[in-house]
Amino acid sequence: MHLPNYQEARSVDKKKYQRKNFQLDPRYQNRFQGKTCYLKTYGCQMNEHDSENIKAILEEMGFSFVDRYQDADLILLNTCSIRENAHNKAFGMLGRIKHLKESKPSLVVGMCGCMAQEEVVTDKILKDYGWMNFVVGTHNFYDLPRVLCESLEKSKLQVEVYSREQDFIEEMPVERDSHYKAYVNIIYGCDKFCTYCIVPYTRGRQRSRKKEDILKEIQALKDQGYLEVTLLGQNVNAYGKDLYEDYSMAELLEDVAKTNIPRIRFMTSHPWDFSDKMIEVIAKYPNIMPSIHLPVQSGSVRILKKMGRRYSREDYLTLFHKMKEKIPNCVISTDIIVGFPGETKEDFLDTLSLVKECHYDNAFSFIYSPRVGTPAAKLKDDLTKEEKEERLYQLNDLLNASFLDNNKKLEGKVVPVLVEGKSLKKKDQYFGYSDTNKLINFTSDQDVTGKIVPVLIEEAKTWSLDGRVYEG
Ligand code: 5AD
Ligand code: SF4
Repeated sequence: MHLPNYQEARSVDKKKYQRKNFQLDPRYQNRFQGKTCYLKTYGCQMNEHDSENIKAILEEMGFSFVDRYQDADLILLNTCSIRENAHNKAFGMLGRIKHLKESKPSLVVGMCGCMAQEEVVTDKILKDYGWMNFVVGTHNFYDLPRVLCESLEKSKLQVEVYSREQDFIEEMPVERDSHYKAYVNIIYGCDKFCTYCIVPYTRGRQRSRKKEDILKEIQALKDQGYLEVTLLGQNVNAYGKDLYEDYSMAELLEDVAKTNIPRIRFMTSHPWDFSDKMIEVIAKYPNIMPSIHLPVQSGSVRILKKMGRRYSREDYLTLFHKMKEKIPNCVISTDIIVGFPGETKEDFLDTLSLVKECHYDNAFSFIYSPRVGTPAAKLKDDLTKEEKEERLYQLNDLLNASFLDNNKKLEGKVVPVLVEGKSLKKKDQYFGYSDTNKLINFTSDQDVTGKIVPVLIEEAKTWSLDGRVYEG
Protein backbone atom coordinates (compact mmCIF):
# COMPACT_ATOMS: atom_id res chain seq x y z
CA MET A 1 0.00 0.00 0.00
CA HIS A 2 1.37 3.38 -1.00
CA LEU A 3 -0.76 6.50 -0.50
CA PRO A 4 -0.49 9.99 -2.04
CA ASN A 5 0.80 12.90 0.01
CA TYR A 6 0.47 16.50 -1.18
CA GLN A 7 3.27 17.85 0.97
CA GLU A 8 5.63 15.40 -0.64
CA ALA A 9 4.23 16.26 -4.09
CA ARG A 10 4.97 19.97 -3.56
CA SER A 11 8.52 19.47 -2.32
CA VAL A 12 11.47 20.01 -4.62
CA ASP A 13 14.15 17.42 -4.95
CA LYS A 14 16.89 17.62 -7.49
CA LYS A 15 16.69 13.92 -8.17
CA LYS A 16 18.18 12.73 -11.43
CA TYR A 17 15.66 10.43 -13.01
CA GLN A 18 16.76 7.09 -14.36
CA ARG A 19 15.60 6.17 -17.83
CA LYS A 20 14.45 2.60 -18.31
CA ASN A 21 12.81 0.71 -21.12
CA PHE A 22 9.44 -0.87 -20.46
CA GLN A 23 9.32 -4.62 -20.30
CA LEU A 24 6.33 -6.67 -19.30
CA ASP A 25 7.26 -9.29 -16.71
CA PRO A 26 6.92 -12.64 -18.58
CA ARG A 27 4.76 -13.90 -15.69
CA TYR A 28 2.01 -11.51 -16.77
CA GLN A 29 2.27 -12.06 -20.51
CA ASN A 30 -1.02 -13.41 -21.92
CA ARG A 31 -2.11 -14.30 -18.40
CA PHE A 32 -5.61 -12.99 -19.13
CA GLN A 33 -6.08 -14.54 -22.57
CA GLY A 34 -9.81 -14.58 -23.40
CA LYS A 35 -10.66 -11.90 -20.81
CA THR A 36 -12.17 -8.55 -21.72
CA CYS A 37 -11.55 -5.01 -20.54
CA TYR A 38 -13.56 -1.79 -20.60
CA LEU A 39 -11.21 1.18 -20.39
CA LYS A 40 -12.87 4.55 -19.77
CA THR A 41 -10.79 7.70 -20.20
CA TYR A 42 -11.73 11.07 -18.70
CA GLY A 43 -9.98 14.40 -19.22
CA CYS A 44 -7.20 15.78 -21.37
CA GLN A 45 -4.97 14.57 -24.22
CA MET A 46 -2.35 13.49 -21.69
CA ASN A 47 -4.82 11.02 -20.23
CA GLU A 48 -5.93 9.90 -23.69
CA HIS A 49 -2.32 9.19 -24.54
CA ASP A 50 -1.70 7.34 -21.24
CA SER A 51 -4.73 5.21 -22.15
CA GLU A 52 -3.10 4.36 -25.49
CA ASN A 53 -0.15 2.97 -23.50
CA ILE A 54 -2.36 1.23 -20.94
CA LYS A 55 -4.38 -0.40 -23.71
CA ALA A 56 -1.23 -1.82 -25.29
CA ILE A 57 0.05 -3.12 -21.93
CA LEU A 58 -3.29 -4.80 -21.22
CA GLU A 59 -3.27 -6.33 -24.71
CA GLU A 60 0.15 -7.87 -23.96
CA MET A 61 -1.46 -9.34 -20.85
CA GLY A 62 -4.07 -10.99 -23.08
CA PHE A 63 -7.06 -8.66 -22.66
CA SER A 64 -9.30 -7.68 -25.56
CA PHE A 65 -11.48 -4.56 -25.39
CA VAL A 66 -15.25 -4.12 -25.25
CA ASP A 67 -17.42 -1.02 -25.73
CA ARG A 68 -19.91 -1.74 -22.94
CA TYR A 69 -18.79 -1.93 -19.31
CA GLN A 70 -21.47 -4.57 -18.67
CA ASP A 71 -19.57 -6.98 -20.97
CA ALA A 72 -16.16 -6.60 -19.29
CA ASP A 73 -14.15 -8.82 -16.93
CA LEU A 74 -11.98 -5.82 -16.01
CA ILE A 75 -13.19 -2.20 -15.76
CA LEU A 76 -10.48 0.43 -15.56
CA LEU A 77 -11.22 4.14 -15.11
CA ASN A 78 -8.45 6.51 -16.20
CA THR A 79 -9.59 9.56 -14.27
CA CYS A 80 -9.29 13.37 -14.30
CA SER A 81 -9.20 15.81 -11.35
CA ILE A 82 -9.22 19.18 -13.02
CA ARG A 83 -12.74 20.17 -11.96
CA GLU A 84 -15.41 18.87 -9.63
CA ASN A 85 -17.60 17.52 -12.46
CA ALA A 86 -14.77 15.18 -13.61
CA HIS A 87 -14.79 13.74 -10.07
CA ASN A 88 -18.53 13.40 -10.06
CA LYS A 89 -18.53 11.57 -13.37
CA ALA A 90 -16.00 9.00 -12.17
CA PHE A 91 -17.72 8.45 -8.81
CA GLY A 92 -21.09 8.21 -10.61
CA MET A 93 -19.60 5.52 -12.83
CA LEU A 94 -18.21 3.68 -9.78
CA GLY A 95 -21.75 3.68 -8.36
CA ARG A 96 -23.06 1.89 -11.47
CA ILE A 97 -20.11 -0.51 -11.44
CA LYS A 98 -20.76 -1.39 -7.79
CA HIS A 99 -24.26 -2.44 -8.77
CA LEU A 100 -22.88 -4.63 -11.55
CA LYS A 101 -20.29 -6.19 -9.27
CA GLU A 102 -23.02 -7.29 -6.86
CA SER A 103 -24.37 -9.61 -9.56
CA LYS A 104 -20.94 -10.40 -11.03
CA PRO A 105 -18.48 -10.86 -8.15
CA SER A 106 -15.62 -11.92 -10.43
CA LEU A 107 -15.56 -8.44 -11.98
CA VAL A 108 -12.22 -6.67 -11.45
CA VAL A 109 -12.36 -2.89 -10.96
CA GLY A 110 -9.44 -0.47 -10.99
CA MET A 111 -8.71 3.25 -11.07
CA CYS A 112 -5.72 5.09 -12.49
CA GLY A 113 -5.08 8.68 -13.62
CA CYS A 114 -5.14 11.99 -11.78
CA MET A 115 -7.84 11.22 -9.19
CA ALA A 116 -5.69 8.37 -7.90
CA GLN A 117 -3.10 11.00 -6.90
CA GLU A 118 -5.51 12.92 -4.67
CA GLU A 119 -5.40 12.32 -0.94
CA VAL A 120 -9.15 12.95 -0.62
CA VAL A 121 -9.90 10.35 -3.29
CA THR A 122 -7.74 7.54 -1.94
CA ASP A 123 -9.07 8.27 1.58
CA LYS A 124 -12.63 7.92 0.27
CA ILE A 125 -11.80 4.75 -1.65
CA LEU A 126 -10.18 3.12 1.37
CA LYS A 127 -13.18 4.06 3.50
CA ASP A 128 -16.13 3.42 1.19
CA TYR A 129 -14.92 1.53 -1.89
CA GLY A 130 -13.21 -1.48 -0.36
CA TRP A 131 -14.97 -3.59 -3.01
CA MET A 132 -12.64 -2.19 -5.70
CA ASN A 133 -9.55 -4.18 -6.65
CA PHE A 134 -6.79 -1.65 -7.25
CA VAL A 135 -5.73 1.97 -7.60
CA VAL A 136 -2.53 2.92 -9.40
CA GLY A 137 -1.12 6.46 -9.72
CA THR A 138 0.05 8.58 -12.66
CA HIS A 139 3.75 8.16 -11.80
CA ASN A 140 3.72 4.37 -11.89
CA PHE A 141 0.89 3.36 -14.21
CA TYR A 142 3.32 1.15 -16.11
CA ASP A 143 3.31 -0.98 -12.94
CA LEU A 144 -0.37 -1.76 -13.46
CA PRO A 145 0.23 -5.44 -14.39
CA ARG A 146 1.88 -6.16 -11.02
CA VAL A 147 -0.66 -4.16 -8.98
CA LEU A 148 -3.58 -5.82 -10.78
CA CYS A 149 -2.17 -9.33 -10.32
CA GLU A 150 -1.27 -8.75 -6.67
CA SER A 151 -4.77 -7.51 -5.93
CA LEU A 152 -6.13 -10.77 -7.34
CA GLU A 153 -3.59 -12.94 -5.52
CA LYS A 154 -4.26 -11.22 -2.19
CA SER A 155 -8.02 -10.79 -2.84
CA LYS A 156 -7.66 -7.33 -1.38
CA LEU A 157 -7.80 -3.70 -2.55
CA GLN A 158 -4.29 -2.58 -3.55
CA VAL A 159 -3.49 1.15 -3.60
CA GLU A 160 -0.10 1.93 -5.17
CA VAL A 161 0.24 5.69 -5.58
CA TYR A 162 3.52 7.61 -5.36
CA SER A 163 3.57 11.36 -4.80
CA ARG A 164 7.08 11.76 -6.13
CA GLU A 165 7.91 11.23 -9.74
CA GLN A 166 9.35 7.83 -10.58
CA ASP A 167 11.88 6.90 -13.24
CA PHE A 168 11.25 7.63 -16.92
CA ILE A 169 9.92 4.67 -18.80
CA GLU A 170 10.78 4.70 -22.48
CA GLU A 171 9.74 2.26 -25.22
CA MET A 172 6.30 1.91 -23.68
CA PRO A 173 3.99 -0.17 -25.91
CA VAL A 174 1.27 1.92 -27.50
CA GLU A 175 -2.02 1.17 -29.23
CA ARG A 176 -2.80 4.47 -30.93
CA ASP A 177 -6.39 5.56 -31.54
CA SER A 178 -5.53 7.04 -34.96
CA HIS A 179 -3.38 5.86 -37.85
CA TYR A 180 -2.73 9.44 -39.00
CA LYS A 181 -2.35 11.57 -35.89
CA ALA A 182 -0.19 10.77 -32.87
CA TYR A 183 0.45 12.24 -29.45
CA VAL A 184 4.06 12.42 -28.29
CA ASN A 185 4.87 13.33 -24.68
CA ILE A 186 7.75 15.77 -24.44
CA ILE A 187 7.51 16.96 -20.84
CA TYR A 188 5.69 15.62 -17.81
CA GLY A 189 4.31 17.59 -14.86
CA CYS A 190 4.23 21.31 -14.20
CA ASP A 191 6.14 23.67 -11.90
CA LYS A 192 3.93 26.71 -12.32
CA PHE A 193 1.59 26.01 -9.38
CA CYS A 194 -1.18 28.34 -10.56
CA THR A 195 -3.21 28.76 -7.38
CA TYR A 196 -6.40 27.11 -8.68
CA CYS A 197 -4.76 24.14 -10.37
CA ILE A 198 -4.36 20.60 -9.12
CA VAL A 199 -2.11 19.42 -11.95
CA PRO A 200 1.27 20.00 -10.23
CA TYR A 201 0.03 17.74 -7.41
CA THR A 202 -1.38 14.99 -9.62
CA ARG A 203 1.23 15.03 -12.39
CA GLY A 204 4.29 16.03 -10.41
CA ARG A 205 7.18 18.37 -11.03
CA GLN A 206 8.35 19.38 -14.46
CA ARG A 207 10.62 16.86 -16.20
CA SER A 208 11.52 16.70 -19.87
CA ARG A 209 12.09 13.64 -21.98
CA LYS A 210 15.46 13.51 -23.71
CA LYS A 211 15.44 15.12 -27.15
CA GLU A 212 16.93 11.94 -28.72
CA ASP A 213 14.05 9.81 -27.40
CA ILE A 214 11.45 12.29 -28.69
CA LEU A 215 13.01 12.65 -32.13
CA LYS A 216 13.41 8.89 -32.46
CA GLU A 217 9.72 8.40 -31.67
CA ILE A 218 8.68 11.05 -34.20
CA GLN A 219 10.94 9.66 -36.94
CA ALA A 220 9.43 6.21 -36.36
CA LEU A 221 5.90 7.68 -36.59
CA LYS A 222 6.80 9.40 -39.84
CA ASP A 223 8.25 6.16 -41.24
CA GLN A 224 4.98 4.41 -40.35
CA GLY A 225 3.08 7.01 -42.40
CA TYR A 226 1.75 9.26 -39.64
CA LEU A 227 0.91 12.74 -40.94
CA GLU A 228 0.60 14.69 -37.71
CA VAL A 229 2.22 14.73 -34.27
CA THR A 230 1.04 16.71 -31.27
CA LEU A 231 3.80 17.39 -28.76
CA LEU A 232 2.23 17.05 -25.34
CA GLY A 233 2.90 18.53 -21.94
CA GLN A 234 1.08 20.47 -19.23
CA ASN A 235 3.39 23.33 -20.13
CA VAL A 236 5.28 22.41 -23.31
CA ASN A 237 7.08 25.76 -23.47
CA ALA A 238 9.10 24.83 -20.40
CA TYR A 239 10.59 21.95 -22.39
CA GLY A 240 14.27 21.35 -21.71
CA LYS A 241 14.62 23.79 -18.81
CA ASP A 242 15.19 20.98 -16.31
CA LEU A 243 17.54 19.08 -18.61
CA TYR A 244 19.61 21.27 -20.91
CA GLU A 245 21.43 24.62 -20.76
CA ASP A 246 20.96 25.54 -24.39
CA TYR A 247 18.19 23.39 -25.81
CA SER A 248 14.63 24.60 -25.30
CA MET A 249 11.20 24.23 -26.90
CA ALA A 250 12.31 26.42 -29.83
CA GLU A 251 15.21 24.10 -30.70
CA LEU A 252 13.06 21.01 -30.23
CA LEU A 253 10.34 22.43 -32.50
CA GLU A 254 12.95 23.18 -35.14
CA ASP A 255 14.40 19.65 -34.97
CA VAL A 256 10.92 18.15 -35.18
CA ALA A 257 10.11 20.38 -38.17
CA LYS A 258 13.27 19.14 -39.90
CA THR A 259 12.01 15.54 -39.77
CA ASN A 260 9.55 16.81 -42.43
CA ILE A 261 6.59 15.17 -40.79
CA PRO A 262 3.73 17.04 -42.52
CA ARG A 263 1.98 18.50 -39.46
CA ILE A 264 3.24 19.48 -36.02
CA ARG A 265 1.10 20.78 -33.19
CA PHE A 266 1.92 21.29 -29.53
CA MET A 267 -0.06 21.89 -26.37
CA THR A 268 -0.45 23.44 -23.83
CA SER A 269 1.57 26.67 -23.83
CA HIS A 270 1.98 28.85 -20.78
CA PRO A 271 2.40 32.45 -22.02
CA TRP A 272 5.21 33.08 -19.51
CA ASP A 273 7.51 30.59 -21.25
CA PHE A 274 6.60 31.51 -24.84
CA SER A 275 9.91 32.79 -26.25
CA ASP A 276 10.54 35.02 -29.28
CA LYS A 277 12.70 32.22 -30.65
CA MET A 278 9.66 29.92 -30.59
CA ILE A 279 7.66 32.47 -32.56
CA GLU A 280 10.47 32.71 -35.11
CA VAL A 281 10.65 28.93 -35.55
CA ILE A 282 6.87 28.55 -35.87
CA ALA A 283 6.81 31.31 -38.49
CA LYS A 284 9.70 29.75 -40.43
CA TYR A 285 8.50 26.15 -40.84
CA PRO A 286 5.27 25.54 -42.77
CA ASN A 287 4.87 22.10 -41.19
CA ILE A 288 4.45 23.68 -37.74
CA MET A 289 0.72 24.40 -37.76
CA PRO A 290 -0.17 28.06 -37.21
CA SER A 291 -2.68 27.20 -34.53
CA ILE A 292 -1.67 27.91 -30.95
CA HIS A 293 -3.48 27.22 -27.73
CA LEU A 294 -2.59 30.06 -25.37
CA PRO A 295 -4.64 29.97 -22.16
CA VAL A 296 -5.25 33.43 -20.69
CA GLN A 297 -7.55 32.37 -17.79
CA SER A 298 -8.66 35.95 -17.00
CA GLY A 299 -8.49 39.45 -18.44
CA SER A 300 -8.15 41.12 -15.04
CA VAL A 301 -4.70 42.12 -13.78
CA ARG A 302 -5.88 41.62 -10.21
CA ILE A 303 -7.26 38.12 -10.80
CA LEU A 304 -4.25 37.04 -12.87
CA LYS A 305 -2.11 37.95 -9.88
CA LYS A 306 -4.34 35.99 -7.48
CA MET A 307 -4.17 33.05 -9.90
CA GLY A 308 -0.35 33.18 -9.80
CA ARG A 309 -0.16 33.30 -13.59
CA ARG A 310 3.09 35.36 -13.69
CA TYR A 311 1.95 37.66 -16.51
CA SER A 312 -0.21 40.75 -16.63
CA ARG A 313 -3.04 41.48 -19.05
CA GLU A 314 -0.63 43.73 -20.97
CA ASP A 315 2.06 41.01 -21.17
CA TYR A 316 -0.48 38.58 -22.58
CA LEU A 317 -1.83 41.02 -25.13
CA THR A 318 1.66 41.99 -26.28
CA LEU A 319 2.53 38.33 -26.82
CA PHE A 320 -0.81 37.66 -28.52
CA HIS A 321 -0.38 40.49 -31.02
CA LYS A 322 3.26 39.60 -31.67
CA MET A 323 2.22 36.06 -32.58
CA LYS A 324 -0.56 37.31 -34.85
CA GLU A 325 1.82 39.68 -36.57
CA LYS A 326 4.82 37.36 -37.00
CA ILE A 327 3.20 33.97 -37.71
CA PRO A 328 1.41 33.89 -41.07
CA ASN A 329 -2.27 32.93 -40.82
CA CYS A 330 -1.94 32.47 -37.04
CA VAL A 331 -5.02 31.27 -35.18
CA ILE A 332 -5.14 31.41 -31.39
CA SER A 333 -7.39 29.60 -28.95
CA THR A 334 -7.59 29.94 -25.19
CA ASP A 335 -8.90 28.75 -21.81
CA ILE A 336 -10.84 31.08 -19.52
CA ILE A 337 -12.05 30.63 -15.95
CA VAL A 338 -14.94 32.71 -14.61
CA GLY A 339 -15.92 33.11 -10.98
CA PHE A 340 -12.46 32.83 -9.44
CA PRO A 341 -12.75 33.75 -5.71
CA GLY A 342 -13.15 37.50 -5.37
CA GLU A 343 -13.83 38.13 -9.07
CA THR A 344 -15.75 41.42 -9.17
CA LYS A 345 -18.03 42.72 -11.91
CA GLU A 346 -15.13 44.93 -13.09
CA ASP A 347 -12.73 41.96 -13.20
CA PHE A 348 -15.24 40.06 -15.29
CA LEU A 349 -15.73 43.03 -17.62
CA ASP A 350 -11.94 43.08 -18.07
CA THR A 351 -12.16 39.45 -19.23
CA LEU A 352 -14.91 40.36 -21.69
CA SER A 353 -12.92 43.28 -23.08
CA LEU A 354 -9.84 41.07 -23.53
CA VAL A 355 -11.97 38.49 -25.33
CA LYS A 356 -13.27 41.25 -27.60
CA GLU A 357 -9.76 42.40 -28.37
CA CYS A 358 -8.41 38.89 -29.06
CA HIS A 359 -11.39 37.80 -31.14
CA TYR A 360 -10.47 34.15 -30.51
CA ASP A 361 -10.97 31.33 -33.00
CA ASN A 362 -11.68 28.80 -30.29
CA ALA A 363 -11.84 28.70 -26.50
CA PHE A 364 -12.71 26.53 -23.54
CA SER A 365 -14.51 28.35 -20.76
CA PHE A 366 -15.04 27.08 -17.24
CA ILE A 367 -16.60 28.04 -13.97
CA TYR A 368 -13.93 28.01 -11.25
CA SER A 369 -13.98 24.78 -9.31
CA PRO A 370 -12.21 24.67 -5.93
CA ARG A 371 -9.72 21.80 -5.71
CA VAL A 372 -8.82 20.53 -2.25
CA GLY A 373 -5.19 21.19 -1.38
CA THR A 374 -4.67 24.12 -3.80
CA PRO A 375 -4.09 27.63 -2.38
CA ALA A 376 -7.16 29.12 -4.11
CA ALA A 377 -9.44 26.61 -2.38
CA LYS A 378 -8.76 28.49 0.88
CA LEU A 379 -9.88 31.85 -0.55
CA LYS A 380 -13.30 33.25 0.26
CA ASP A 381 -15.66 32.51 -2.61
CA ASP A 382 -18.68 34.78 -2.27
CA LEU A 383 -20.23 34.62 -5.73
CA THR A 384 -23.40 32.56 -6.02
CA LYS A 385 -23.71 29.64 -8.44
CA GLU A 386 -26.23 31.68 -10.44
CA GLU A 387 -23.86 34.65 -10.74
CA LYS A 388 -21.08 32.38 -12.01
CA GLU A 389 -23.42 30.71 -14.50
CA GLU A 390 -24.62 34.08 -15.74
CA ARG A 391 -21.02 35.18 -16.32
CA LEU A 392 -20.26 31.96 -18.18
CA TYR A 393 -23.29 32.47 -20.47
CA GLN A 394 -22.30 36.04 -21.19
CA LEU A 395 -18.73 35.01 -21.94
CA ASN A 396 -19.82 32.14 -24.17
CA ASP A 397 -22.15 34.39 -26.17
CA LEU A 398 -19.24 36.67 -26.92
CA LEU A 399 -16.86 33.80 -27.72
CA ASN A 400 -19.34 32.04 -30.00
CA ALA A 401 -19.95 35.23 -31.96
CA SER A 402 -16.21 35.62 -32.52
CA PHE A 403 -15.76 31.96 -33.60
CA LEU A 404 -18.53 32.36 -36.16
CA ASP A 405 -17.21 35.68 -37.39
CA ASN A 406 -13.70 34.23 -37.90
CA ASN A 407 -15.10 31.13 -39.59
CA LYS A 408 -17.19 33.25 -41.97
CA LYS A 409 -13.96 34.76 -43.29
CA LEU A 410 -13.04 31.30 -44.58
CA GLU A 411 -16.09 30.99 -46.84
CA GLY A 412 -14.95 30.72 -50.46
CA LYS A 413 -11.38 29.88 -49.37
CA VAL A 414 -9.53 26.60 -49.88
CA VAL A 415 -7.99 25.02 -46.76
CA PRO A 416 -5.83 21.88 -46.32
CA VAL A 417 -7.63 19.18 -44.33
CA LEU A 418 -6.24 16.02 -42.74
CA VAL A 419 -9.13 13.64 -43.27
CA GLU A 420 -9.96 11.49 -40.26
CA GLY A 421 -12.86 9.47 -41.60
CA LYS A 422 -16.27 9.14 -43.12
CA SER A 423 -19.34 10.67 -41.57
CA LEU A 424 -21.71 8.05 -40.20
CA LYS A 425 -24.74 10.13 -41.10
CA LYS A 426 -24.33 11.13 -44.74
CA LYS A 427 -23.05 9.38 -47.86
CA ASP A 428 -19.88 10.82 -49.45
CA GLN A 429 -19.37 13.02 -46.39
CA TYR A 430 -15.98 13.13 -44.65
CA PHE A 431 -14.50 15.06 -41.74
CA GLY A 432 -11.09 16.24 -40.67
CA TYR A 433 -9.15 19.20 -39.33
CA SER A 434 -7.67 22.17 -41.17
CA ASP A 435 -4.14 23.49 -40.58
CA THR A 436 -5.74 25.99 -38.20
CA ASN A 437 -7.38 23.12 -36.29
CA LYS A 438 -10.95 23.75 -37.41
CA LEU A 439 -13.37 20.87 -37.82
CA ILE A 440 -14.29 20.58 -41.51
CA ASN A 441 -17.17 18.45 -42.84
CA PHE A 442 -17.03 18.03 -46.60
CA THR A 443 -18.15 15.96 -49.53
CA SER A 444 -15.93 13.93 -51.78
CA ASP A 445 -16.79 11.20 -54.29
CA GLN A 446 -13.52 9.41 -53.50
CA ASP A 447 -12.45 7.94 -50.17
CA VAL A 448 -9.83 10.43 -48.98
CA THR A 449 -9.47 9.11 -45.41
CA GLY A 450 -5.93 9.48 -44.10
CA LYS A 451 -4.91 12.08 -46.69
CA ILE A 452 -4.37 15.81 -46.58
CA VAL A 453 -6.68 17.30 -49.21
CA PRO A 454 -7.73 20.82 -50.25
CA VAL A 455 -11.31 21.67 -49.30
CA LEU A 456 -13.34 24.61 -50.59
CA ILE A 457 -15.29 26.12 -47.68
CA GLU A 458 -18.92 26.74 -48.56
CA GLU A 459 -20.59 27.42 -45.22
CA ALA A 460 -19.25 28.52 -41.86
CA LYS A 461 -20.83 27.49 -38.56
CA THR A 462 -19.78 28.31 -35.00
CA TRP A 463 -17.83 25.12 -34.31
CA SER A 464 -17.32 23.66 -37.77
CA LEU A 465 -17.25 24.47 -41.48
CA ASP A 466 -18.87 22.70 -44.43
CA GLY A 467 -17.35 22.35 -47.87
CA ARG A 468 -16.34 20.09 -50.74
CA VAL A 469 -13.08 18.69 -52.03
CA TYR A 470 -11.46 21.29 -54.22
CA GLU A 471 -10.64 19.88 -57.65
CA GLY A 472 -8.68 22.94 -58.82
N1 5AD B 1 -11.44 25.32 -12.00
C1 5AD B 1 -11.84 25.62 -13.27
N2 5AD B 1 -11.06 25.47 -14.33
C2 5AD B 1 -9.81 25.01 -14.14
N3 5AD B 1 -8.80 24.77 -15.01
C3 5AD B 1 -7.75 24.30 -14.32
N4 5AD B 1 -8.04 24.23 -13.02
C4 5AD B 1 -9.32 24.68 -12.88
C5 5AD B 1 -10.19 24.86 -11.77
N5 5AD B 1 -9.80 24.58 -10.53
C6 5AD B 1 -8.90 25.04 -16.44
C7 5AD B 1 -7.85 26.05 -16.90
C8 5AD B 1 -6.88 25.21 -17.65
C9 5AD B 1 -7.77 24.12 -18.21
C10 5AD B 1 -7.08 22.89 -18.65
O1 5AD B 1 -8.66 23.85 -17.17
O2 5AD B 1 -8.49 26.97 -17.75
O3 5AD B 1 -6.19 25.91 -18.66
FE1 SF4 C 1 -2.12 24.06 -14.04
FE2 SF4 C 1 -1.38 24.88 -16.48
FE3 SF4 C 1 -0.96 26.46 -14.33
FE4 SF4 C 1 0.51 24.21 -14.69
S1 SF4 C 1 0.48 26.06 -16.01
S2 SF4 C 1 -0.43 24.88 -12.78
S3 SF4 C 1 -1.04 22.83 -15.59
S4 SF4 C 1 -2.97 25.81 -15.20
